[in-house]
Amino acid sequence: MQLMEKQNILIVGSGGREHALAWKCLQSPWVQRIYCAPGNPGMGRMVETVDIAVNDIAGLVQFAKDHDIHLTVVGPEAPLLKGIVDAFAEAGLQAYGPSAQAARLEGSKSEAKAFMQRWSIPTAGYRVCYTMAEAETFIAEQGAPIVVKVDGLAGGKGVVVAMTEAEAVAAAKNFLVPGSCIILEDYMQGEEVSLLAFVDGETVIPMEFAQDHKPVFEGDTGPNTGGMGAYSPVPQFGSHVLKEAMERIVKPTAAGMVAEGHPFRGVLYTGLMITDQGPKVVEYNVRFGDPEAQALLPRLKTDLIEILWASITGQLDQMDVQWDKRAAAAVVAASGGYPEAYDKGLPIAGDILTQRDSSMVFHAGTAAKNDGFVTNGGRVLAVTGLGDSLSEALSAAYRRMSDIDFAGMHYRRDIGRRAMKQASRSA
Ligand code: GLY
Repeated sequence: MQLMEKQNILIVGSGGREHALAWKCLQSPWVQRIYCAPGNPGMGRMVETVDIAVNDIAGLVQFAKDHDIHLTVVGPEAPLLKGIVDAFAEAGLQAYGPSAQAARLEGSKSEAKAFMQRWSIPTAGYRVCYTMAEAETFIAEQGAPIVVKVDGLAGGKGVVVAMTEAEAVAAAKNFLVPGSCIILEDYMQGEEVSLLAFVDGETVIPMEFAQDHKPVFEGDTGPNTGGMGAYSPVPQFGSHVLKEAMERIVKPTAAGMVAEGHPFRGVLYTGLMITDQGPKVVEYNVRFGDPEAQALLPRLKTDLIEILWASITGQLDQMDVQWDKRAAAAVVAASGGYPEAYDKGLPIAGDILTQRDSSMVFHAGTAAKNDGFVTNGGRVLAVTGLGDSLSEALSAAYRRMSDIDFAGMHYRRDIGRRAMKQASRSA
């Protein structure tokens, strides 16, 4: 992909994913200037941050016009669902990501399930319930385990895998709000993996697999979070699993969206359960995953700006997307108490600015104070390690993490455990 001129880029978002996007975009020779709205203090040390909230779409459009922004990259799902890409297009500007209508694949689980049913895309059996009476009847019929899901966006907190009927009823009561619905799904047995793909209409270029760690504590225990760590590649799932997922799920999804008049352009993130019957969809997301992005982007060898422009100009099929053979492991450091209540404003010790060849730090919930940084969120930062093997990548990440500290800091020490377990079994 040959661009004609250097680009001014606007990145929308403020988390670790957006920090990784900014870091990756900075490596492109096509970049003139990068702005992040609102960004975070870590990003502020690399690029210019502007105080515009992610959902202030009119404000972002105005900023892009005033600052001659060529390309806007949208990190989080909320502005996508609010129609940021449509609003930019109406203003004659380019924003990378799906339209509001295509973003409903993530915005409504019931619509996504109906879409999968229409296109025979493998996923768990389900029932949409609008009342507690419907939910209780279905739970009693199906029994446990059963999965209870919020219909709309829930920031990673809208899913309960209920191991008893009582737990399922309690989750349904908690999730069911007037005017909305919940989804009750068959429990799927298997291992989860994230498959992200660059999609432009029917053209789909998969990234390499990544695996997230949603529960807060080691051994996948405790409540779910936005994600406590990720690694890539995922050696337990080889090219045959990728091929099957592409043929039975990702390509039919892209084709179905085209056929229904809502072509998908952007990063399609399919959460997969690899079951005995093959891969099945757990959920769709319509953007880079967080923390998957912090593990995937350091492995992406191809110029990200070129990939995004190729998508926008209908030339994605001409891109040859290359991945670093090395493994990457991203470990999230969270505030004490997260994902429940936690303190903010705690001083962070250690070098959380230097981006090295084998370890990077991506900020999320940090704030600048005096000459240093304090905590300002649940997921405070992620450390990514790169290495010739997953074990080396993990060592690099944990070594770097051991130099970082704040009161109450906790992180999982078993990121990559499934891959490491498999490696030790086959050794
Ligand atoms: N890693 C989960 C997500 O990005 O939604």
